Amino acid sequence: MKQKPAVSVIGMGYVGLCTAAAFASRGIRTIGIDIDEGRVEQIRRGKAPLHEPQLGTMLKHAVKKKLLDASSDISVATNTNTSFLTVGTPSQPDGSIDLSYIKNATEDLGNALSDKRGYHLVVVKSTVVPGTTNGTVKRFLEQSSRKTIGSELGLCANPEFLKEGTAIDDALHPDKIVIGSNDKRSASELTKLYRRFYGAKLPPLILTSPEAAELVKYASNAFLATKVSFINTIANIAEQIPGVDVGTIAEAIGLDPRIGPLFLKAGPGYGGSCFHKDLQALINYSQNKNYDPVLFRATEETNEQQASRVVGLAEKLLGSLSSKRVAVLGLSFKKDTDDIREAASIRVINHLKKKGAQVIAYDPMAIPNTKKKLLDQIDYAENAHSALKGADCAIIMTEWEQIRKLKAKDFQAYMKTPNIVDARRIYNPAEFSGLNYVSIGLGPSTGMR
Ligand code: UGA
Repeated sequence: MKQKPAVSVIGMGYVGLCTAAAFASRGIRTIGIDIDEGRVEQIRRGKAPLHEPQLGTMLKHAVKKKLLDASSDISVATNTNTSFLTVGTPSQPDGSIDLSYIKNATEDLGNALSDKRGYHLVVVKSTVVPGTTNGTVKRFLEQSSRKTIGSELGLCANPEFLKEGTAIDDALHPDKIVIGSNDKRSASELTKLYRRFYGAKLPPLILTSPEAAELVKYASNAFLATKVSFINTIANIAEQIPGVDVGTIAEAIGLDPRIGPLFLKAGPGYGGSCFHKDLQALINYSQNKNYDPVLFRATEETNEQQASRVVGLAEKLLGSLSSKRVAVLGLSFKKDTDDIREAASIRVINHLKKKGAQVIAYDPMAIPNTKKKLLDQIDYAENAHSALKGADCAIIMTEWEQIRKLKAKDFQAYMKTPNIVDARRIYNPAEFSGLNYVSIGLGPSTGMR
């Protein structure tokens, strides 16, 4: 990169990398920083180190045009005007937030900035509990840089709302931008950058305190997770009522604009790297403030129980699962990703193993990650048909297109007995009428979906 980059993004995980790629795609020169040299090298070659649609093409293009570069040396951030912190904030064993990556990155950045002349804006994009930006981050940054926020340094909280699988689209067309800061200059510098990025299409801008911005992120994920647990609760009630399908209920209530149609798909429970982690962090944070958020504990408990309900449906068809061959179709926490973090499939497999079942799993992308986690506790199949071969039961865990395309005759042809638990509700029950088919949220003897 000949000209100086304008923006540095610290932490080349999926949020950081997609953010950096999005900036570069709009002509904003960006440098990504990560301590993992292998990852840095890959990015410099224009190769995506993780699976995300559009990301590979964007990286290749941005690197070629010299709009994106990467480095493992954090001091390069001092050449830019703005540094985004996008490092991970995992959970501690008690569910509380682990800020060690934030602390390390902030300290390293502060040390590098101590020699810089001129203003530098630091933006916390990582998900952090309220008070972190203005507490831990501010303290670490001021101590290590020996500068003061407000004069030579700016500080903002600016959460992201990217979804895996559509992260690039989400970054290019967000429904809002939330900026939390305590001083006018920080907020106006960041607004200026986003104006440059979005031009005339600047999304609604919420300017607020850092604490409120931080809470917006948790409120958003807590609401979405609660919406999923809500519809799963209705699904579990619907299953008890002949002629009722939760899909009809979701469709009807979704037409009420106060409720809305999205995030009302009943299933095996939510997974992914964020909902469980963020709810646990919010519950822990809130309890430390002497308020017990009963609703969010119920959201999490409902989600945990949903996996045993899926296994319960298999037991309804098979009786005891001991020594039964169960094909698990789909392992990733949702389709089009190889991510199995907190995936419902893992909870279901653990229950199945405890009950003595013999599990064979298929997923178009997530087998390598599952092997790393479950090792040889289960068998793996190269395709759906070979997973089904000789199986006593099939459980649909992820809504992959390859799995959705299977027909009743595929199950009939390959399985020992065609017992199907459709935990993702991807098939039309009417087409499976000759088979032993049950689905989450489907009451007894419902004809059509
Ligand atoms: C989620 C949020 O949707 C993003 O806005 C947020 O930025 C992100 O977490 C984060 O904090 O980083 P993501 O984890 O990629 O994004 O996944 P989602 O698409 O939200 O799905 C989460 C889980 O809920 C999946 O297991 C999905 O299958 C499940 N889900 C979703 C349902 O079971 N039913 C639905 O109707 C919707």
